[in-house]
Amino acid sequence: MANDLNAWFSAIKWAYDSYYKTLLKAGKMPLRSTEVGFWGAAVADEIWDLFMGYLNLYSAKNFIDLGSGDGKVVLLASLFTKATGIEHDKDLHAVAEHIRKHFKLPNANFINGNYFDHDLSKYDVIFINPDQPLARLEKKLLQEMKGKLVVYGHLYHPPSLKKIRSFTIGGTPIAVYSHPHGL
Ligand SMILES: C[S@@+](CC[C@H](N)C(=O)[O-])C[C@H]1O[C@@H](n2cnc3c(N)ncnc32)[C@H](O)[C@@H]1O
Repeated sequence: MANDLNAWFSAIKWAYDSYYKTLLKAGKMPLRSTEVGFWGAAVADEIWDLFMGYLNLYSAKNFIDLGSGDGKVVLLASLFTKATGIEHDKDLHAVAEHIRKHFKLPNANFINGNYFDHDLSKYDVIFINPDQPLARLEKKLLQEMKGKLVVYGHLYHPPSLKKIRSFTIGGTPIAVYSHPHGL
């Protein structure tokens, strides 16, 4: 079982590394502005350590990545549970769909849209690698969040939510939050 998972991880990581290499060969960085923010991908090994060691994703029912970029986090999460990604940028969404179809991962689902328009109440793990301050999202989470919020990276944090855990993986700080009134 663990060997199967590790094989899936290696294959997905390889697909994304190949994609980044094609961008670099074309003189493009795997980083750029989008209409609503800025895309930069999470590090596959760090996400894998997070899912395998720090979060018990098998016990989660519904995972979502807000601003899912090229889909890597969602495809890795879908090895454990039902996983959704919402990304506004059409081209990044297309990359995520392309890789999802290639691997035929049945638990992964991508939406090309704005996460402010999506009801977050059914997700028990909400992941974000934020590209902007979280004040507006925090208001939405205070109304809808029933599970946990996982914030990847050190740039932005939600001051009104309750921090329940924090740790560093591969140099990246990660924090887990719950609703302050335990909705
Ligand atoms: C830092 S990247 C993270 C990508 C991915 N989650 C990862 O960790 O590899 C942030 C992404 O959020 C997207 N984004 C920002 N605001 C958004 C919104 N309101 N709705 C949908 N996507 C959004 C950006 O276009 C960008 O691709």
